[in-house]
Amino acid sequence: MQEKANSCIGIFDSGIGGVTVLKEIIKILPYENYIYISDSKNNPYGDMKKEKIIKRCEEITKYLIENKSKVIVIACNTASAIASEFLRKKYKNIPIIAIEPAYKMVYDHNYDKETLVMATKGTIESEKFNLLYKKYNNHKTQLLECVGLAEIIEEGNKEKIVKYLDENIGKYKGKIENVVLGCTHYPLIEKEIKNILGRNVRIFNGAKNVAIHLKDVLEKDGLINNIEKKGKIEFLDTSLEIEKRKNKKKRFFELIGG
Ligand code: DGL
Repeated sequence: MQEKANSCIGIFDSGIGGVTVLKEIIKILPYENYIYISDSKNNPYGDMKKEKIIKRCEEITKYLIENKSKVIVIACNTASAIASEFLRKKYKNIPIIAIEPAYKMVYDHNYDKETLVMATKGTIESEKFNLLYKKYNNHKTQLLECVGLAEIIEEGNKEKIVKYLDENIGKYKGKIENVVLGCTHYPLIEKEIKNILGRNVRIFNGAKNVAIHLKDVLEKDGLINNIEKKGKIEFLDTSLEIEKRKNKKKRFFELIGG
């Protein structure tokens, strides 16, 4: 029991985007402790070389395991697409839960409709995503590499976000029914995306399913923390600039709502 109480869920993203996944997890696992790593020294991952993403994911995972993580959650679609297989092979004794663009959800819930998948270049070009895409292809799908979007969401500049969306997704207005948010940063601008594409578009986001899957895995492995006390969240950002680290932390806790 003591062992379980001291252990935590390790979660990471290239920045603060993974907060959209953590929020869903906390809703169903409120008594767990969390360490969240935001790798802002090295982001964006979206157009980074594969080898570097794998190296960073390996270093972060190692750190999280050394700091008592009983499970790792990759709250970044790009990192999942590129590094999850490597991490699972390397760290065989710890469950590694990885998010992926919710394209199967479209197949399950609104298959026969025009669909836009928004994700990073790294995700869209990855083998992992392409396997998923081929398996559930509805032949009415546009894949959009949103180069630079995660960066401006990190910055938090509303005007830049609206301008970017206008220029890059404006052309899909009225032509799309389903939108897959294939990057964990994008749910942070769901409202702005709907403002451009129309209030009626259906948004698909894999975060909730990750949370449910994580809970199942912890239950199956007997790793759930049953002590009914609200868990702690530790936030670490890798930036070398103190101000930047402070700002990230502030925004992260604002977004998490605590
Ligand atoms: N949040 C990450 C994702 O889900 C990527 C952001 C980045 O490009 O660093 O893909």
